[in-house]
Amino acid sequence: AAGSAIGLGNIWRFPYLTGENGGSAFIIIYLFCIIIVGFSVMIAEFAVGRRTSLAAVGAYKSQSRNWTFAGVLGVISGFFIMGFYPVVGGWSLAYIFKSITGLLAVPEATGEIFGAFIGAPVEPLIWTVIYMLLNVAIVAKGIAGGIEKASKVLMPTLFVLLIIVILKGISLPGSSAGLRYLFKPDWSQVTGGTVLTALGQSFFTLSLGMGCMLTYGSYLRKDENIPGNALTVVVMDTLVAIMAGLAIFPALFAFGMQPEAGPGLVFIVVPALFSHMGNVGPIISILFFAALAVAALTSSISLLEVVVAYLIDEKKMDRRFATYISSAVITVMCVLSSLSMGKMSGVKLFGVGFFDFFDILTDKIFLAIGGMLITIFVGWFM
Ligand code: PHE
Repeated sequence: AAGSAIGLGNIWRFPYLTGENGGSAFIIIYLFCIIIVGFSVMIAEFAVGRRTSLAAVGAYKSQSRNWTFAGVLGVISGFFIMGFYPVVGGWSLAYIFKSITGLLAVPEATGEIFGAFIGAPVEPLIWTVIYMLLNVAIVAKGIAGGIEKASKVLMPTLFVLLIIVILKGISLPGSSAGLRYLFKPDWSQVTGGTVLTALGQSFFTLSLGMGCMLTYGSYLRKDENIPGNALTVVVMDTLVAIMAGLAIFPALFAFGMQPEAGPGLVFIVVPALFSHMGNVGPIISILFFAALAVAALTSSISLLEVVVAYLIDEKKMDRRFATYISSAVITVMCVLSSLSMGKMSGVKLFGVGFFDFFDILTDKIFLAIGGMLITIFVGWFM
């Protein structure tokens, strides 16, 4: 469950949302949503999963046919999140290799390099496809033994690397402005939109509102402590998000960059920091992006699994076929998302490009509705 929760949401998404929403005040609202809403919803999902021993749709259906739609909504959410998540997973993979092919040569150029890379017509697509193939390989096999072993090594590695990046960042002259930005709230910037973004992010980062934690709850033994398990996942996830903020903002202010830089933040600031590290820079950079890619993988396989489990349980498909068919459609969605950063930036759905469309639809709408439904289900029905 921690592998599912800790992912791009913490290291890629959380810092850039913090930057776009004015820093510290956003973090306080976010923490409030995590503690008050996220923690409770996670307990609810674990409880339903353990009680029914079934995946999302089956769990709801086993209690009442009228509730099946709530499980199906979760499957749809997972499917749409997979419409953009692997694009960023692909960027992480690409950056492992870029670490030794010129990315770190000029610290001031990391922004331009990132912009040119994601806007290119072919290169990011190749990485997205490679990332998807890794997901397919793992999910088609069923039990994710290999990824579990890899993540047991690479997740602690990510943790250690974040500490190194934090220490390097706060040692730079001018970094204290970043700490102030993270810890001294400026409430004047807060709007209703800030609160919605913080709420959406708390669902996204904890993998809630779409049946993922519910499914993981179905693997819990009857004597396991549910709030205790939920607390462990919530604390670990929040710790990694705050560490990502500490890794990025002091360095960002030291370099005189803009906090509102958007989705490129981690791919721009962190390499700039590595390029100030001399000979060890490339090695740390490779490890960092490899660990990020694995953190992303342990999350996206949990998303894909929700879709695949639905096709197996409800549509009676064979696991391999279910994985291939859903991944094929997901890959097409990802291609559109990736191209919306460049060639297809003019194509809009409800006023936004494909990438933002899948993102906003799931994180600001579907996950929150899914979270509300599970709460009503547990509190008033089950
Ligand atoms: N929690 C994951 C992350 O932070 C993303 C995710 C969302 C995974 C929903 C599963 C379900 O990267």
